[in-house]
Amino acid sequence: MAKHILLYGLVALSFCCFVFAFEPSPLQDFCVADPANSARVNGLACKNPMSVSVDDFSFSGLHLPGNTSNPVGSRVTPVTVAQLPGLNTLGISMVRIDYAPWGINPPHTHPRATEILTVLEGSLQVGFVTSNPDNSHITKVLQKGDVFVFPVGLVHYQRNVGNVNAVAIAALSSQNPGVITIANAVFGSKPDIANDILAKAFQVDKSIVDQLQAKF
Ligand SMILES: *[C@@H]1O[C@H](CO)[C@@H](O)[C@H](O)[C@H]1NC(C)=O
Repeated sequence: MAKHILLYGLVALSFCCFVFAFEPSPLQDFCVADPANSARVNGLACKNPMSVSVDDFSFSGLHLPGNTSNPVGSRVTPVTVAQLPGLNTLGISMVRIDYAPWGINPPHTHPRATEILTVLEGSLQVGFVTSNPDNSHITKVLQKGDVFVFPVGLVHYQRNVGNVNAVAIAALSSQNPGVITIANAVFGSKPDIANDILAKAFQVDKSIVDQLQAKF
């Protein structure tokens, strides 16, 4: 009996979390973000609909290549609610990603979004890793026109596997997907995570951790 109660409890709990893992449905046609409003809500407060204009629903510039002159050789140009206020409460956003030859978009996760990506130019190796304990690495080389999905929360990456620039467009299932870049979060936190913690976690010498922390 106790086992059944536990099982039903777990099932009920999983439904609750399933529902809360996604953005709530809008309760009006739109809710253009009003960054000037100091109200704290889950998302951003709505502008008065009378003062909304067409520009609130539009963004220009995704035809422009991002600057990939940086250590990883890629650049993400986001179009989230911060760039396009009309996205507020709609549960969707997009990005353009440019890759220099052999550039990478380093391993990262989006805590609030699934991502669907399509290659516009070039060839990309993409991959994600499943949760513990399996940590299966699902990876593939994509060509122009191919589409790939990165499930919400999982660590994923892309690498340009060509000698020419590559370009991708991705859509994300949140107005504000968030990004946690693994190396930056683990080795670049402020203040540092103690080097003995990271040395044990990564099973390396503390001096290696110090080196990594110095880079991020
Ligand atoms: C690209 O970024 C690099 C490094 O920050 C900078 O030196 C360069 O001027 C930038 N190029 C353009 C076209 O903005």
